[in-house]
Amino acid sequence: MAQQHATRENWSSRSGFILAAIGSAIGLGNIWRFPYVAYENGGGAFLIPYLIALLTAGLPLLYLDYVVGQRYKGAPPTAYKRMIKSAEPIGWWQVLVSAVIAIYYASVLTWAGNFMLFSFGQQWGDNPEEFFFKTYLQNADGVVFEIVPHLFIGLLVVWVITLLILYGGVKKGLELANKIFLPLLMIMFTILVVQAVRLPGAEDGLNAFFTPNWEAMKNPKVWLAAYGHIFFSLSVGFGIMVTFASYLNRNANLTGSGLVVGLANSSFEILAGIGIFAALGYMAHTTGVPISEVVGSGIGLAFIAFPKLISSLGSTGDIVGVLFFGSLVFAGITSMVSILEVPIAAFKDKFGWSRHKSVTIIGGVCSIISIILFSSKSAITFVDIIDNFANNIGIVVGAILSITWITWFNRQLIPKLVNHINEISSLKVGKLWIFMLTIITPLSLIISLVLTLKSLLTEGYGDYSMMTQLIYGWGIVALFVIGSFLFTSIKNKNGALK
Ligand code: ALA
Repeated sequence: MAQQHATRENWSSRSGFILAAIGSAIGLGNIWRFPYVAYENGGGAFLIPYLIALLTAGLPLLYLDYVVGQRYKGAPPTAYKRMIKSAEPIGWWQVLVSAVIAIYYASVLTWAGNFMLFSFGQQWGDNPEEFFFKTYLQNADGVVFEIVPHLFIGLLVVWVITLLILYGGVKKGLELANKIFLPLLMIMFTILVVQAVRLPGAEDGLNAFFTPNWEAMKNPKVWLAAYGHIFFSLSVGFGIMVTFASYLNRNANLTGSGLVVGLANSSFEILAGIGIFAALGYMAHTTGVPISEVVGSGIGLAFIAFPKLISSLGSTGDIVGVLFFGSLVFAGITSMVSILEVPIAAFKDKFGWSRHKSVTIIGGVCSIISIILFSSKSAITFVDIIDNFANNIGIVVGAILSITWITWFNRQLIPKLVNHINEISSLKVGKLWIFMLTIITPLSLIISLVLTLKSLLTEGYGDYSMMTQLIYGWGIVALFVIGSFLFTSIKNKNGALK
């Protein structure tokens, strides 16, 4: 088993890595999450905080994730431990966050796959909102563990595809999946957005998206959402980029790759915003209701607003539906596999497991939990609560810990990391990067976290019962804390981690 670590898997080329990193970054976050988070945070008001969050926190952390993964050649627990002996729990924290995200990500991916099929003949009928909540999700009040058969089957399919790709490994699984799905996604999504902006009323939607609302920017909630979203969207702070960079060869240009990935991701995200807001503008135009009121529920935006739009297009709507939900599926699957690769690689490193063993055990456990939770009548409740806690606490805390452990408490590492990047990269990093990572990124994250905690502790989250929030929200945070120390305390298998 020890031999497996001597010959760590790697990408076939730097472009293979860039492709996979873009495939990981562009996901449900861009198409499903970004528009609804933007929409809930004032539309246009969100774009400026989003771009500031990208430059001050997203990109600096992306580079840090890259250098840690490439230099210390491991999934987060191994890489952090090799860098700083005391840092292994930070790695496990990120691994657990990834596992939890994978568990609910599969659920939204299932909805997207099902809605792609429902697009044929526009099976949601006249009332997409009722269809989504009542007919499809069979959403119950409170927590009800009763299986909805079509959700169960959908989840099973998503998990089988995910695990099959992961059994294939880095080159024949992750890289190959991206080579197939990313071009498909680009073609489908571009056709879709071009169609959307040509709809009557689209202009009003775009104005709402691009007009900065200075008033709303005074609201800390908007900033918080921007910082909370950027990490999810770029796939940084929860181990994916550390793991992916660990499969890179020693002299691959890091910052050049990072810039390409960051730009591709945000361009796609803004493109998705344009598509969705154009569609909202069109809906406002046809219904006579203001844009801010055309859709009732944020999290269901893609699954309610889009079906409404599709229905209004007559029979050509079917193909628009297939394009939209198909895009969600293709974008989502390449991210899904990248998220689950983190725990798979971490356990492989720590226990010297083979890829097959790790995919079977970790994939098996995660899929069972996922199927139990998300084929139930409370799927959307779980998605909403877990998404909120895993992102706004899980990812943010993981990012704060990994950054401050280096830039505040192990400052002697900074010159080493800077040299490492600059020796091999086209774009050099220097004082600005260090300043961002020492001051701006951690402070903005800490402020975000304090505000999130204050709001969660005083107001709770959503309208869910205290008990539900305690189990599925705070319970998950507790799992991150306990799990991080527990896995660290287990001895590495002999030979692993060499
Ligand atoms: N980065 C992935 C997404 O945006 C997780 O969906």
